[in-house]
Amino acid sequence: MASGSGSNFEALVEACRAGRPQAEVVVLVVNNPGCGAAQRADRLGVPWQLLDHRVHSDRAALDRALVTVFHERGVDLVVMAGWMRIVTPVLIGAFPDRLVNIHPSLLPSFRGVDAVGQALAAGVTLAGCTAHLVSEEVDAGRILVQAAVPVLAGDDRSSLAARIQRQEHRILPLAVQLAADRLAPQG
Ligand code: GRF
Repeated sequence: MASGSGSNFEALVEACRAGRPQAEVVVLVVNNPGCGAAQRADRLGVPWQLLDHRVHSDRAALDRALVTVFHERGVDLVVMAGWMRIVTPVLIGAFPDRLVNIHPSLLPSFRGVDAVGQALAAGVTLAGCTAHLVSEEVDAGRILVQAAVPVLAGDDRSSLAARIQRQEHRILPLAVQLAADRLAPQG
């Protein structure tokens, strides 16, 4: 699931194709027509579908449409790779412990929107990103992987966000592997 440029989506596709995690990205869902993520999917040869939030009556209706797509495609695990909509129990309940989000802060600090701006405003010297399971409280589910980066003198939102994103691309595939391992039957 992606709403924006799709760099995390692409990093995950590439990691899966390299065999780590041992998974296949079977479909991308975007909510914005013409977003960068859909263009990347075309380039990468990954099928994608548009579920435009503007044509659904409310959040739950959008999530019901998402669940339908994922069930049709036989999806085991769902990744919110820059999905800029709040999800509801409809989606969370359909994929318990199988819904992973990437957030650009060291949670539990700086939940919600503009996490990078919040970090700069707070004057922290360490920032970072968190891949976590999704729970009903926003940006609060079980943490899977985190990475820290320094905040450097002169950083602005864009320079710090770029540094954080490089780490997101590294930890998101690790988090998908960990989430899958947690689901695997214990031998
Ligand atoms: C990432 O920074 C992620 O943390 C946030 O949205 C951004 C998506 O970037 N939730 P991209 O579309 O993967 O390039």
